[in-house]
Amino acid sequence: MLFYIPVLCLLISAAAFAQKKSIAARVDSLIKLMTLEEKIGQLNQYSGREVTGPATPRQTYMLNDIRSGKVGSMLNVHGVKDTREIQTAALQSRLKIPLLFAMDVIHGYRTVFPIPLAEAASWDLEAIQQASHIAATESAAAGLHWTFAPMVDISRDPRWGRIMEGAGEDVFLGSEIAKARVLGFQGDKLGENTESIMACAKHFAAYGAVTAGRDYNVVDMSNHTLWETYLPPFKAAADAGVATFMNSFSTVNGIPATGNRYLQRTILKGKWNYKGFVVSDWGSIKELVPWGYATDLKNAALKAITAGSDMDMESEAYKKHLADLIKEKKVNENLLNDAVSRILTKKFEMGLFDDPYRYCNEDIERRELNNPQHRQVARSMAQKSIVLLKNKNKILPLTPSTKTIAVIGPLVKSKRDLEGAWIPISDTTRVISLYDGLDSKISKETKLIYAKGCGINDSTADFSAAMDAAKNADVVIMALGESYSMSGESKSRTNIHLPGNQETLFEAVKATGKPVVVILMAGRPLIFNKIAEKADAIIYAWWLGAEAGNAIADVLFGDYNPSGKLPVTFPNSEGQLPISYIQYNTGKPSKGPNDIRYKSAYIDELNTPQYAFGYGLSYTSFSYSDLKLNRTNISGDEKLELSFTLTNTGERKGEEVVQLYIQDLVASVVRPLKELKGFQKIMLDSGQSKNIRFTIDRDMLSFYNEELQWTAEPGDFKIMIGAASDDIKLQTEIKLTR
Ligand code: NOJ
Repeated sequence: MLFYIPVLCLLISAAAFAQKKSIAARVDSLIKLMTLEEKIGQLNQYSGREVTGPATPRQTYMLNDIRSGKVGSMLNVHGVKDTREIQTAALQSRLKIPLLFAMDVIHGYRTVFPIPLAEAASWDLEAIQQASHIAATESAAAGLHWTFAPMVDISRDPRWGRIMEGAGEDVFLGSEIAKARVLGFQGDKLGENTESIMACAKHFAAYGAVTAGRDYNVVDMSNHTLWETYLPPFKAAADAGVATFMNSFSTVNGIPATGNRYLQRTILKGKWNYKGFVVSDWGSIKELVPWGYATDLKNAALKAITAGSDMDMESEAYKKHLADLIKEKKVNENLLNDAVSRILTKKFEMGLFDDPYRYCNEDIERRELNNPQHRQVARSMAQKSIVLLKNKNKILPLTPSTKTIAVIGPLVKSKRDLEGAWIPISDTTRVISLYDGLDSKISKETKLIYAKGCGINDSTADFSAAMDAAKNADVVIMALGESYSMSGESKSRTNIHLPGNQETLFEAVKATGKPVVVILMAGRPLIFNKIAEKADAIIYAWWLGAEAGNAIADVLFGDYNPSGKLPVTFPNSEGQLPISYIQYNTGKPSKGPNDIRYKSAYIDELNTPQYAFGYGLSYTSFSYSDLKLNRTNISGDEKLELSFTLTNTGERKGEEVVQLYIQDLVASVVRPLKELKGFQKIMLDSGQSKNIRFTIDRDMLSFYNEELQWTAEPGDFKIMIGAASDDIKLQTEIKLTR
């Protein structure tokens, strides 16, 4: 038997090699058949909003280009009917090279899942992977081959509206989620089946750090910060096999990302040896001109192709100028060949040369877009994404015998807002509002009294109906927050307080003396200090998608015990931004609010946030005890085992996210007071205990030194186990001896 295993392995790897070789060989022979124009065509991507439907000049123009092999990919054409029609046009071209159909499937195609930031609050990698897998299944069923997701940009500035699209502020959590999402969209092997699609790690790189939180702005940071904080989730996505990368609208240290050689050639295609292709962001090649980085579109094409942008989304820069640039010997044709070969390789891997209509099956489309299981998963994902921020006197969960509930606020009956920004198709008939969710949950004996109170962003203030509703109720549930158009792309805000008059409405309702449970729905961390202080309970419900109302009702009535933890810090005021749990001692550390003179502190604000990264409550409670190490010193590649006991000390079954933080006490580059290096989500019955283990290795003690080498330096390290970044339960020290 032992003899056969190596032989078998040899056969398997030979088969894998043959397959790879055959794709590479097929790509090579195809490129040899292509004219210069046909090769450039593969680099050209159009948005197809106008390709189907009534003929317009733009439609005719694009269709002509498709038929003559001048287009490699379309975005925004979706649905089997349309993708089939446009693919048929592509197959009329001389070489019949199929198109790739792409779309922004950010949190669901037909079944709308919670926004990515909300899903990150679940800290549940399996669930996140499954949600992406369902989005991929529906997209593939609708003729798509490629999503422009996941966005893996770390962001520590909630003024930036796109914070909703990512996994929050942390490098480790963000990298784990990047991997989960890539695997969810793509499966284990690209093109293996028709339930997965290509993913795209975006926006390369550091777009989440736009100056002052203003979208599309410059990004300016040390290379150290770039490597330590912003690149790791991209590396994680690349290691997980992500098929494509997208560059960004911003600059990085003076060079627009789209024209940035260091990012795309030196790091991505060089050091990381990445074999997929890079798509520009929408029009970002032509934007090199207004940036003042290129003189005109031709110069922009030269800079973008030289820097490593393979596919041109909606600039037509390559289509119009690359042939001349090559003829004038300003661009080496090998750069073009490399870009084409990367793109064609993905088309082969997706099986499109074997069957260009591989993802065009109406029966599968009908079945998958109406698959009831997808809604169940969306409900479970929404439950897991909810974060319980406050629960005074255990007012939650509500008892089923509650007689009268006042439901107040502009988001109680809203549906479109619950879908959030970035959805391919809005269909509010498929959305369960909070009111609907409550209505189907409560017993016949319970009465709901509804009052809107005010609009989301109104300046008017007639709260009388809301106050009457509250007075007549046993408990008040308020649904407040942002409209779907207040976070997302180009939705930066300088004021991230709860918009309009909503906090005043809360105060009026609270003044009735009734207990008030506040549900906050938004695409970013908001500031709501009065609610934080005075509400009886607070649930952060982000934008939870189609099943939002059911999931929130499940939590309110205890059918689901909340388990989410914040993936991003919630500030007290905008003046604290950017903010993160990653903090440094400084040379003048402040011991707290009364220690600010000549200390690193504010005279008008705390250093600490309203809610810290990693924070979130449950209806049960947990105790942490009995921290043990199997050794206190390690050297070289040795590992150390840490264990402790987690006990559910409350009366309900529940889940806890236990978090491992590490601090390098003295190093050649100043290190943060704590960095997340591990976490586990543990389900325990009431009264149950479990021994939890973490393995600590050299890699977890490493950082980028002054020369940007990933290294661990001998010395002492503080090891912390917490329920949140500001709630450390157990700690100890270890030593790296060499
Ligand atoms: C611009 C956005 O920045 C990007 O994330 C998106 O994928 C493209 N538009 C395509 O819609």
